Amino acid sequence: MEHNKAAQFIVICLIAGLKGQQSEDEGGWSLPSDLRLQDEGPCNIDVLDGSSLSYQEFIERYAYSRPVIIRGLTDNTKFRLLCSKSTLLEEYGSRKVRLSTANTYSYRKVDIPFQEYVDVLLRPQSVDTLGSDTLYFFGDNNYTEWQSLFRQYKSPPYVLPHTSGAYSFGIAGPGTGVPFHWHGPGYSEVIYGRKRWFLYQPDKEPHFHPNHTTLSWLTEIYPHLPEEEVPLECTIRPGEVLYFPDRWWHATLNLDTSVFISTFLG
Ligand SMILES: *[C@@H]1O[C@H](CO)[C@@H](O)[C@H](O)[C@H]1NC(C)=O
Ligand SMILES: *[C@@H]1O[C@H](CO)[C@@H](O)[C@H](O)[C@H]1NC(C)=O
Repeated sequence: MEHNKAAQFIVICLIAGLKGQQSEDEGGWSLPSDLRLQDEGPCNIDVLDGSSLSYQEFIERYAYSRPVIIRGLTDNTKFRLLCSKSTLLEEYGSRKVRLSTANTYSYRKVDIPFQEYVDVLLRPQSVDTLGSDTLYFFGDNNYTEWQSLFRQYKSPPYVLPHTSGAYSFGIAGPGTGVPFHWHGPGYSEVIYGRKRWFLYQPDKEPHFHPNHTTLSWLTEIYPHLPEEEVPLECTIRPGEVLYFPDRWWHATLNLDTSVFISTFLG
């Protein structure tokens, strides 16, 4: 009997330890698996190791012509620790963040304390919610307030000639994402969580409703796309950066609670 209890105790400690480990690895942002999206989809974008792609090759093969995902280009271990839920809330909980509606031509902006965003709005999004009714924290960062965090971020070193990078930082729940839009070139990186990407070259405008979410596009339109309208797509994870060239159409879908940062090259 005593042995049994001791064994039970050890098992409970092991499980607790594993759970602690897991939530630590995901910075305290992780959700139970039934609240995450499981489908990572196919990956038809080149995925390369930073060590096997030189800057010259990046410029020649990708910079002006197609997206690429590069692994292990930078080590953001320290930045990642600073982006854990507890550390971010401690530092920024009482600061206000500016949220935007998640439609293509983001209309509405709302300022709320970061703590309230995390406690109330940061949750899985259902497929029938309109993008224009979803408040999304991405970009519009007050650089004075976020500077000490951004200073710790190591952005991808392969920049385009005559450009410099500007950061947009955000956090959003599973099922959220921005619908199709385009702008200048840059990188996207997830610090925690997975993000599924869909891209079309500039002259291939995809069919989408500007107020509908990526999730509703994925459920309603994507399954019926003819072969010639299939997008480039892939799901990125921490340690990978996705490069998007100038004016490429793209939409994103967070599969988990994701902490992410983009570097816009302009
Ligand atoms: C950014 O934050 C600083 C420091 O809290 C504040 O003084 C300033 O007004 C903010 N700027 C904007 C545009 O909100
Ligand atoms: C999208 O939503 C905005 C804000 O609610 C509205 O003004 C606009 O007319 C809508 N656009 C379409 C195409 O439905």
